[in-house]
This record gives sequence, C-alpha cells and structure tokens, in this order.
Amino acid sequence: MTQEELFKKLIAHCKEYGFIFPSSEIYDGLGAVYDYGQNGVELKNNIKRYWWDSMVKLHENIVGIDAAIFMHPKTWEASGHVAAFNDPLIDNKDSKKRYRADVLIEDWMAKQDEKIQKEVDKARKRFGEAFDEAQYRATSPRVLDIAAKRDAVHERFVKALDENDLTELRQIILDCEVVCPISGTRNWTDVRQFNLMFSTQMGSTAEGASTIYLRPETAQGIFVNFLNVQKTGRMKLPFGIAQIGKAFRNEIVARQFIFRMREFEQMEMQFFVQPGTEMKWWNEWKNTRMAWHRALGFGDENYRFHDHDKLAHYANAATDIEFNFPFGFKEVEGIHSRTDFDLGRHQEYSGKKIQYFDPERGENYVPYVVETSIGVDRMFLQIMSAAYCEERLENGEERVVLRIPACLAPTKVAVMPLVKKDGLPELAQSIIDDLKFDFNVAYDEKDSIGKRYRRQDAVGTPFCITVDHQSLEDGTVTVRHRDSMQQERIAISTLHQMVEQATSFRPLYKKIKE
Ligand code: GAP
Repeated sequence: MTQEELFKKLIAHCKEYGFIFPSSEIYDGLGAVYDYGQNGVELKNNIKRYWWDSMVKLHENIVGIDAAIFMHPKTWEASGHVAAFNDPLIDNKDSKKRYRADVLIEDWMAKQDEKIQKEVDKARKRFGEAFDEAQYRATSPRVLDIAAKRDAVHERFVKALDENDLTELRQIILDCEVVCPISGTRNWTDVRQFNLMFSTQMGSTAEGASTIYLRPETAQGIFVNFLNVQKTGRMKLPFGIAQIGKAFRNEIVARQFIFRMREFEQMEMQFFVQPGTEMKWWNEWKNTRMAWHRALGFGDENYRFHDHDKLAHYANAATDIEFNFPFGFKEVEGIHSRTDFDLGRHQEYSGKKIQYFDPERGENYVPYVVETSIGVDRMFLQIMSAAYCEERLENGEERVVLRIPACLAPTKVAVMPLVKKDGLPELAQSIIDDLKFDFNVAYDEKDSIGKRYRRQDAVGTPFCITVDHQSLEDGTVTVRHRDSMQQERIAISTLHQMVEQATSFRPLYKKIKE
C-alpha cells in the first residue's frame, strides 16, 4: 500500500468511525472546514488536556486564559497582520487551480531531498556492511549534482522571500519546471499576494459598523492581556500565559484533510522573558516541546526540527517541529522567538504603557517573548496517522486497529456481556455504573465477541471486558488488551485500579520532566 492509499484509507476511517465529518456535508461540504464526531471530540479533548496540563499544571509559572475571538481591529494593525499576513499565490491557467508559490518551491526542494535519499539507499544495498553514508554523500557525482541544484534554488528562494520578490518566485517555479499536478502544464500566472484574514462587520450600518477580523492566531489575545494577567496574578518574569482556541485563515490552498483548514484550533503559550535571555529560553522550549511529542511513543525518528527559511515579521529565531505524516515531514508546531515586537507594537498603537518592572534590575522594560504554537487539528492528524494500523491475524482475518496511547483514547473500556440473558447484561451494566464516573465506557451486546472486538479496535479502545457465566459465580471478568490481543481473567473489584493506572497521563508527564 502506498502512503497515498494509506492516507485515503485514514480519511475514510475517520468518517466511518465518527471521528471527522466534512462540514455541512448534506450541502456537499465547505472547503477545508470539518466537524468532529462522537469519537473525534473525545480524542480532541484529550489532546487539549495533555497540552494544557503539561503547560499549566506542570509549570508553576504558567497560567491560562480564554480570550474572545473578536478583538479590537487595531489589534491586527498593531500585530502587522493587516499589512503582512499574506501568502504568495499563483494560478495554473489550464486547470484554473490555485497554489501557494512558496509551497510549490518547497515541494520541489523536498523532491530533490527524496531523490538524494533514494541514491543513498540504493548505494547502501549495493555496498552492504562497508557502506559509508557520509563519504558517499560527499563524493557521489549524482548526489552532488542534485544537491547543488537544490541548494542554488534554496538560496534564490530565501532571497526572494526576504525581498518579497514575487517575479523571482515565479521565475524559480519556471526554472524548476514545476508542473500543475492537475493539468500537467507549466502555464502559470504571475504571483500575487493574498491576505489570509477573514473580515466581517460589527454593529449595524446605522451605528456606523466597523470591520473586524476573525483572529488568525490566538496569540494576540494573550499579548493584549499581558498586563491584566501579570498584575492580577502578581507574575514575575519569566512566566507564561497559555491559551487554547479557534483561529481562522482564508487558506488559498486547502489540502491534506485537516492539515490545512480555514477554521482550526490552536494551543499557544507565550513565555515572557528578560531581553537578552530569549535564545536560552527558545532552546529550552524547543527541547521541552520535542519531549512532549516524543513521549507519545510514535518513534523518535518520526520527528525533526526545521528552521524557518524566512522569519515572520515578528521573529528573530523560529523553528518547526515536523512529523512524518503519510505525505512526508510537515510542520505540527512552531517555536518562535518573537522579541518585544508584539508588546512593543501594542504599546505604540494603544498609547498605553505595556512594561514590566523588574525588581532585580530595578528598571522597567518591554519583555521579550518565546512562543510555542501548535494546531490541535494537526496534532489530531499526527496521532491518527501514527495510530492507524492494518494487521493480518494468525487466523487469516484482518483487523484495523488504532494504537492511540491509552490516555488519549476516546473510550477507555468497552463492557460486553457474552450473551444477552442470564443476568449478564445486568452485571455488565453494574460494572459500567462503577467505571463511568471516571472513564468513558461503552456497552456493546450485539454480534459475536470477535466482531465486537473489531469495532472497538477500530476506534482505539484499549480494553474490552467480557462478562460471562463464570463472572456471576466468582466475580471475575475477561480483559482483552487492544494491542497485544492478550486476554486475562481479573477480579471485577480490581478493574477500576487497572484502568486508572493504564490510562493515566502521569507516565507521559514524567517523561517530559526527565
Ligand atoms: N502564533 C503563531 C502562529 O500562529 P503559525 O506557524 O502560523 O504560527 C502555528 O501556526 C500552528 O498552528 C502550526 O504549527 C499549525 O499546527 C497550526 N496551523 C496553522 N495554520 C493552520 C491551518 N490552516 N490549519 C490547521 N492548523 C494550522
């Protein structure tokens, strides 16, 4: 199965099992907008809990807020979004499809990296044990040739982005012979800038309505509340403010399912520090955030840092944490050193002093900011991509299992009476009544036990508990484990403790803190 086929199956699975539906599907959907179903919302809530607790609970100097989506329009002038929150777009004249010019070039560069990797893999097979990858990369004429072309394009690309040179971006696309995946032609329009913010009107026209924006990032809600939180919480630098909330961007190219959406959710934390210490904190947060991802156990090799080619207007350092999705390594989270740009600009645009009095230094200043910013939906896609697994069993049957870490799984336990009589459903119900105060529990009495297991595997339920006639006699049940499919008999009285231990977030938090 190719990665593309795998991704299609994953999307179909998300719909079939109540994780994600296209928005307003009965009207044929709305581009790049999605709804989360009964299982999706539970997974999403657990992701948010994992993030919130690891920020706010685990750090004494981080607190949370929940700011409004609507903000004073001046916010977005001050932040630079009105002037500069643009993507360069280009159209193919034959297919009439629209693309981001920077993404077309980035994809071309990624293809060159793949070509180099293929050459390396081939050589490794040829030379076997004696293969020296570093030497091969440094001497193979073919590898050097591809790398030189890639590096030359990279250099032009960075310069064009820095200088906002749209003509050069188009020229790079032409020189790299990038074709439209739909029409297969190189018939491209000029490159134009496109602002990504959605706007709407607040108030009636009679009152003099004003244009306001749906926030394109949650961060600004934190910046404008910096003083409120600092003063009411008596916070001392360094300290952080965390927030989870919706953000909106009119993405030109909405592709790859929930990877790039027009309405999405962010989990952002702004960490306020003394000027001059921001690089230390930026490095620290890079490591902490990478540890948070890796603690999930999806394989360290599936994550990497990718430093930004072009820094955003507010940043003096920026890196992405990328995950190996079925469509390649792509950004899940950004860690940005935002300097004093945002607070400084809000101070300037509002005319209000936004400063911190540092008792150690005995002076006032505008703090610097290190931001960690992750999309809930991309995190969701990361988990689904890593967890989705098709397996052939010993008896020849196939199963689809979602190996979601137990603490994040939508349902923790499914309780199943072996038959629908003899008091077994009643005993199953009493087990549910005990567990449901603390865990999401499902009840299933339909079809064979095998089929019921398959249904729970497909939504990632870590434990299935079967109640049979022996349960009535000795108060024990069979627990079947999702990943190993091993079964064991345990006392009903120990169930709560077993589930609590196995689905706790604690081991993950401990790993992050190591
Ligand atoms: N406050 C900084 C900021 O918003 P960003 O790199 O534009 O930085 C941060 O976005 C994160 O938000 C990304 O790493 C990604 O996970 C998520 N994100 C951004 N745009 C998105 C979109 N259109 N759909 C889904 N997630 C998105």
